[in-house]
Amino acid sequence: MKQAFKGDFLIGAAISKPLFEEETFATLNMVAGQFSSVSSCNMLKWGSFNPEPGVYNHETADAYVKFGTENKMYVVGHVLFWHNQTPKWVFLDEKGETVDRAELLRRMRERVRHVSKRYGTRIQAWDVVNESFMGSGKLRDSQWTRIIGSDFIEQAFRIAEEELPEGVELIYNDYSMTGKGKRDAVVRMVRELKEKGVLIDGVGLQGHWSKKGPSISEIEASIIAFSEAGVGVHITELDIDMLPRKEGMWGADVAKRLVGDARMDPYRDGLPEARQQELAKRYADLFQLFLKHKDKIKRVTFWGTTDKYSWLNNWPIKGRISYPLLFDRAGKAKPAFHAVLGLKDKQATPDE
Ligand code: GLA
Repeated sequence: MKQAFKGDFLIGAAISKPLFEEETFATLNMVAGQFSSVSSCNMLKWGSFNPEPGVYNHETADAYVKFGTENKMYVVGHVLFWHNQTPKWVFLDEKGETVDRAELLRRMRERVRHVSKRYGTRIQAWDVVNESFMGSGKLRDSQWTRIIGSDFIEQAFRIAEEELPEGVELIYNDYSMTGKGKRDAVVRMVRELKEKGVLIDGVGLQGHWSKKGPSISEIEASIIAFSEAGVGVHITELDIDMLPRKEGMWGADVAKRLVGDARMDPYRDGLPEARQQELAKRYADLFQLFLKHKDKIKRVTFWGTTDKYSWLNNWPIKGRISYPLLFDRAGKAKPAFHAVLGLKDKQATPDE
């Protein structure tokens, strides 16, 4: 894949700690062979990386950066500031009281300084802020906005620019940005930052999509809108959910938890051929769109590697068997993989 799409855009996969614990490293080897970019699922999030004041879990994060660097990949740091998976201590002082704006900004700076010193330009892009807008376009109410105020995003990007080495790309990342409310809000935010002279290089459109939606034209409108705002477009977190969805199961709010019966988990014995073909067609349509806009798209990253490791096996209903990616549970390329590659000259085959 990385050869086939060379010259079009980077092609990435998000990798997680269990891949470093596999006996044969089969999945990591597959990633090294197929992908030109990597993202970290949890390893660099504040909660995993720095769970207590002064306590750092460097081991897997270091292994992640080493893997990406050794394989000459575009290494993405995910994520500096998010309302989820950030430990409570970040917002509290020694007495357990909420810190003030100045102290929170200081802690944010300390975090960026730490990763900057440790990884420097080996991490080539950071998701600086994740998921800070609601579908309506309003800023999300969170500890960040409550303590810092409505300029939280601006402050985060200023800190990132000041503390990270020059050339490291700074990205705003979010889901459901094909909806008009959020799309317009993010375009406005990008333009405002640029007017103030604050660096923002890219917008990451999380592609947690399904076989039905969003439509190709909705996705296209967002790619064009972000590009016209003057940033590179990154398709991040791409996966296509083939399992049934019901009311309230859209987006990618990780805090959402639902219960479902067997009807919500219909493919426990494998994805039927007709569904495989549907998935292949959906991916081919998406990649056709991405190729059409390759001048605007810097990277297309899948959220995961093989179906076995997908978060969609557990979201929003725990323990289902999901089929959202290009590689099956055994690591074998699926019809969707061939459909995507089929759009290009046959420069690479999965068995090579
Ligand atoms: C969001 C986050 C990711 C990840 C996924 C689900 O989209 O950005 O870090 O947690 O949810 O796995």
